[in-house]
Amino acid sequence: MEKVLLIGQGYVGLPLAMSAVDAGFHVVGLDVDATRVKRLGVGESFVEDVPGHRLRAALDTGRYRPTDDYADAEGFDYCVITVPTPLRDGVPDLGYVEQAGAAVAPYVRPGSTVILESTTYPGTTERVLRPLLEQGSGLNAPEEFFLGYSPERIDPGNRTWTLENTPKVVSGVDPASLARVRAFYDRLVTRTVAVSSTRTAELTKLFENTFRHINIALVNELAIVSGQLGVDVREAIDAAASKPFGFMPFAPGPGVGGHCLPIDPSYLSWEVKRTLGHRFRFIELANDINESMPQYVVSRIGLGLNARGRPVNGSRVLVLGLAYKKNVGDLRESPATVVADLLGRLGATVRAAEPYAAVASVPLVDLTADEVAEADVVVVLADHDCFDYEMVEGTARYVFDTRNRCHGPNVEPL
Ligand SMILES: NC(=O)c1ccc[n+]([C@@H]2O[C@H](COP(=O)([O-])OP(=O)(O)OC[C@H]3O[C@@H](n4cnc5c(N)ncnc54)[C@H](O)[C@@H]3O)[C@@H](O)[C@H]2O)c1
Repeated sequence: MEKVLLIGQGYVGLPLAMSAVDAGFHVVGLDVDATRVKRLGVGESFVEDVPGHRLRAALDTGRYRPTDDYADAEGFDYCVITVPTPLRDGVPDLGYVEQAGAAVAPYVRPGSTVILESTTYPGTTERVLRPLLEQGSGLNAPEEFFLGYSPERIDPGNRTWTLENTPKVVSGVDPASLARVRAFYDRLVTRTVAVSSTRTAELTKLFENTFRHINIALVNELAIVSGQLGVDVREAIDAAASKPFGFMPFAPGPGVGGHCLPIDPSYLSWEVKRTLGHRFRFIELANDINESMPQYVVSRIGLGLNARGRPVNGSRVLVLGLAYKKNVGDLRESPATVVADLLGRLGATVRAAEPYAAVASVPLVDLTADEVAEADVVVVLADHDCFDYEMVEGTARYVFDTRNRCHGPNVEPL
């Protein structure tokens, strides 16, 4: 039975580990976070897309083993790297990829296949990962081991498009590597899409996220000017979406968050600046607009409170949802958290209903009619489906809704 080593057991690596177990592989889930590994070992999942019962079923097969020890990498056939690729002071930080590459290199054998999945700029697999693997193993790619890149498209919380039914882009540093990478993913997903180089696959992922980032910035700016023009932006977007070709709807909101949109486009603009010496203006503009949205939301709330004879200072604010999007508990880079913190700095007493998170920068409360009635303003930031919006509409004195979930005389949309 072939052995799959998955480095990083987070939002990307854990679902992938489950799919590899389902596909019949023997899977080692390697993560440097010992606490996370311990929890996984007793069947406790922290990723919404992997329910505890799925994790426990995988453990019960005897073919899934979480570990924090690189010695367990011994004898792998396939290694997939899914470690973080953050920005540090606005610059791509490939430190996690470099550490993982250096640590796994001694376990690369002739015929092994190593695949990078972490989102990164074109050239990383060949120029950063390959030398580390070659130095540490004493072997050369592609002559002695196979190397490829396959970007993850996982959309946390999306029940329609899963890892298995979303087409997966695959690539290799040579045709033989591509064939190996493709054969691996063909066992996990319904369709693989081959491209001619790892650089193309790396760029494909950045293009997808940059496309979304820019379109969200466009509707955010449209929402601001539409409000000033007295036009309902959502109605205009819905009407435009009736066009069956050449248009795709995006929804305005309080900004972008999570591990992808606020970060990935900057990997591309940084690489363009470094290599070609010029700016990627679309990305810079989208960053500016999306990053300014929390401040815009706060200024609108300030105006709304003012119209009701209340200053922000001393007002009681109830935030609904601190996550970066609905139905997940991921607070990373969340614009909702920025809004809550900005309101707090202006002197508001801020509490948040966030059933998917255990800790946050503001006190967490249950969404009850009492909490809603006591608040000077209820702010909808992450529109989780579990919230009782009818109760909120019927109870709140004033709702500022960035997600178009509430309606009525006391509701002000973004
Ligand atoms: N979360 C998403 O929705 C998503 C979607 C597509 C792509 N991606 C990309 O996938 C990559 C991983 O993202 P994620 O959301 O799964 O991150 P994550 O933080 O949820 O998980 C990464 C895991 O890697 C572990 N790790 C870090 N360094 C390690 C090392 N040297 N050896 C072993 N384990 C190590 C961490 O402890 C962590 O558990 C990133 O490049 C991200 O941009 C994420």
